[in-house]
Amino acid sequence: MCGIVGAILSEGSVVQGLVDGLRVLEYRGYDSSGVAVAADDGVLVRKKEGRLANLEAALADGALEGARAGIGHTRWATHGPPSDRNAHPHLGRHGTLAVVHNGIIENYLALKEELTGSGVVFQSETDTEVLAHLIERELATADDLSSAVRRCLARVEGYYALAVLSRGPAGPEVVCARQGPPLAVASTADAAYLASDLLGLLPYTNRISFLEDGDIAVLTPGRVQVIDLQGRLVERLPKTIHWESGDSGLGHWPHHMLKEIHEQGDVLARTAFSRIAKGADDVEFEGGAFSDEFFAEIERVQVTACGTALHAGMIASYLIEGLARIPVDVDFASEFRYRDPLVGPGTLALAISQSGETADTLAATRLARSKGAKVAAICNVEGSSQVRESDGVILTQAGPEIGVASTKAFTAQVAAALLLAVRMGRARGTLDSERARELLQELRLLRPKIDSLLTEEAVGRVRRLARLHVEQNGFLFLGRGVNFPIALEGALKLKEISYMHAEGYAAGEMKHGPIALIDPGMTIVVINSVGHVADKVRANIEQVKARGGVTVSVGSDAASHEVAEDSIPVPETSEWLSPLLNVIPLQLLSYYVADLRGCDIDKPRNLAKSVTVE
Ligand code: G6P
Repeated sequence: MCGIVGAILSEGSVVQGLVDGLRVLEYRGYDSSGVAVAADDGVLVRKKEGRLANLEAALADGALEGARAGIGHTRWATHGPPSDRNAHPHLGRHGTLAVVHNGIIENYLALKEELTGSGVVFQSETDTEVLAHLIERELATADDLSSAVRRCLARVEGYYALAVLSRGPAGPEVVCARQGPPLAVASTADAAYLASDLLGLLPYTNRISFLEDGDIAVLTPGRVQVIDLQGRLVERLPKTIHWESGDSGLGHWPHHMLKEIHEQGDVLARTAFSRIAKGADDVEFEGGAFSDEFFAEIERVQVTACGTALHAGMIASYLIEGLARIPVDVDFASEFRYRDPLVGPGTLALAISQSGETADTLAATRLARSKGAKVAAICNVEGSSQVRESDGVILTQAGPEIGVASTKAFTAQVAAALLLAVRMGRARGTLDSERARELLQELRLLRPKIDSLLTEEAVGRVRRLARLHVEQNGFLFLGRGVNFPIALEGALKLKEISYMHAEGYAAGEMKHGPIALIDPGMTIVVINSVGHVADKVRANIEQVKARGGVTVSVGSDAASHEVAEDSIPVPETSEWLSPLLNVIPLQLLSYYVADLRGCDIDKPRNLAKSVTVE
């Protein structure tokens, strides 16, 4: 979705800071971008379709330099196609007020009609522009900008994170507001800042406040004041965030995705190892979370998530059912929220989300809570809505994930799910000390195994395979048991970033349809690790071969590699943990296929990293 930044400084020039902030947030949306700054006699705007580089070129004349307050935006289009005109910020009629917005104004057509009737001529096809005109109209009779914003928002239906810049007679004013999509604010001694996510604020401070729905924040240098829609002061105490701003840099890597794939050994260690309890036969979460009592009344688990996080959720269902012997359902958050689900006080609703701001996942969580469920989350972003709204949280320690296609966040989610399953199994007495110890010992051993999949030689093997298969018409990924979700994830990765047709299937289902697709133009990637279904999956490879299909086997089952045309061997581990290894060659395969096809790997077409609207 869109990225928003804003700042007001007591002295100096704001524009470079806005552009730097947009660069950090560009992963949120990247079809156009723009900034507005408060100049002596009004608000100046530059905005451009396409990547941030286009905006930077438009700013090269230096005309916006010297202004000390401004707002900026990177867009992911919802209303109106990407264009200079539809890019944000949008101006009011008099050129003294500008607005940037992430979200959807659902009643914008009615508001637009009303404004058009009073003589406003719209400059764009966006829903956002109505906000600029409405706020401007209210400002004519309001005491200050925040009052005008409050009055405007009372008329607005929909979801928004918005920032408003005005250049009135008393000087520049910056106000932002949240209803739905995330927004964070921070102040330093002589400035105040706003951004869609904490990555935009970390260059200035790690003390960050997260706005709640209905909050309006007024920024002045050195201070952020938060009020509600009635104008009453509310307190949003800053949280100390433990990410470094440098973590989101590219370093020597060509793409964030490749960098993030290579970080997975560290991510596993950070997420899992410090949580292994002293006796090494249980898991201990920070602050005693997920104690035995926490699980006492739980009769079933309902996982909800979207995209890659859903695949981690599916693996969680195998792990929790297998180790804690408790029924688990998994659903797309977008389906769950509209199907009047059977959820009650005996349910643990487990949301899995990298960003903690995915609209559907949040809505699913809120629905489950409203039906009496206990709410837990596996999430990567401290301070996110999902974290704030959960009774128990496992923070994955993946650090900032910038590549739109999720890799290291997925590994961290699966590792966190394993920890949760072990803790639940121990709490419920279904997992004895010895088995738990073995599993956690295996988990520790994964670190060097992950590294072995990322050596130059191992990566080179995947790259060669990518070259061999890049001209194929499509890919079918097959997996079974706990590796079925890995088949789905392998297919999702490939289609997301290389735009090749790819499907993931449960291997046992192959004969019920996908087998008809088999021809020499289709590569069948079969994920098979040593375990209780290895023989069955190997038989699938034979069946594909018998029909002239092209097979690549991925996993620790050496016998599968003998049968398949090509193979990517993966070290052996416990079957439960095998997804954490098997996914890595599939991530690399997608990466290199996409690279060979010249795709924009970190910013694939039409996708957004964080989907904060429905
Ligand atoms: C988008 C991203 C995916 C991600 C999904 C869920 O579709 O492109 O990479 O898996 O949202 O996001 P979340 O932040 O909730 O994990």
